[in-house]
Amino acid sequence: MSLGKATAIACSNIAFIKYWGNRDAALRLPLNNSISMNLDHATTRTTVAFDAMLNDDEIVIGDRAANAAQRVRVVAHLERVRALAHIETRARVHSRNNFPMGAGIASSASAFAALSLAATRAAGLALSERELSILARQGSGSACRSIPAGFVEWLAGTSSADSYAVQIAPPSFWDLRDVIAVVSTTEKHVGSTEGHAAASSSHFLAARLQALPERLARVRHALATRDLEMLGNAIEQDAIELHLIAMTSRPPIFYWSPGMVRVIQAVHAWRGEGLAVYFTLDAGPNVHLICEARDADSVAMRVREIPEVVQVIVNAPGDAAYLTDQHLF
Ligand code: PMV
Repeated sequence: MSLGKATAIACSNIAFIKYWGNRDAALRLPLNNSISMNLDHATTRTTVAFDAMLNDDEIVIGDRAANAAQRVRVVAHLERVRALAHIETRARVHSRNNFPMGAGIASSASAFAALSLAATRAAGLALSERELSILARQGSGSACRSIPAGFVEWLAGTSSADSYAVQIAPPSFWDLRDVIAVVSTTEKHVGSTEGHAAASSSHFLAARLQALPERLARVRHALATRDLEMLGNAIEQDAIELHLIAMTSRPPIFYWSPGMVRVIQAVHAWRGEGLAVYFTLDAGPNVHLICEARDADSVAMRVREIPEVVQVIVNAPGDAAYLTDQHLF
């Protein structure tokens, strides 16, 4: 086994059916299956090199040394890779997003997917897609969905060995767009790890889990038949439920802001005018507008006119995580 340097690129993803709440927080085993689309314009590139000269892991995110919280999570992930490769060598890790940090776009999915692929390769391992997805999941749950390409389902499974993501359809299957409306906010963001932990304190969680098998089936069917109306209605319902559970958790978590509500209301108005566009939400202030490729310009133009929207990023269905020789160092 040779230790070396490897670089990987992975897309972020937007969940159509959300992952919210864990059965096992340490292993990040979810309460339910979730379904997502990879985002081709929200990617992370990560270079990892194991180096016997290092006394400690060196982690740079963007242009800066990782902060304490980031460092703990990345080092824990490197430990998982070292355990798999039976090595103790420390690593140099540089990671960079192609979308602005602090824009509230989930970066942990693309970050831990790219880190999993780059670090295992640098450690001399060649994991299967399933093994990579299992590894990425332990860094950040939603990262397991950024390993396969296109439209993806994370199978909740019963243990770590059978909780991973599989492709439902390749990127070319349906030319959908996710037009991300980046909404300005002064609110402090509550991390998803806290949100997952609080979910079971909401009385509404049980009702959501009961409704999910039917909704998952509806989303799978809508994807298989490229039925945007069926998909759109299901994803709006699911996004609202994610936030309902967050707001009714103890203590409550509010991701909502006036700008977010403004965009949601606009989406409903545009639909009334015949534009086929639906929204979904993450654990943050932004609104993701899902439409067909032919309507993306019109959606992007309209959403730019909303004063609280500071940036618009248009995404097509993205690829699987992949290796590149364009290293960051
Ligand atoms: O992977 P995490 O722990 O950041 O959780 C992601 C949670 C949501 O983005 C709100 C939903 C999802 O399924 O991506």
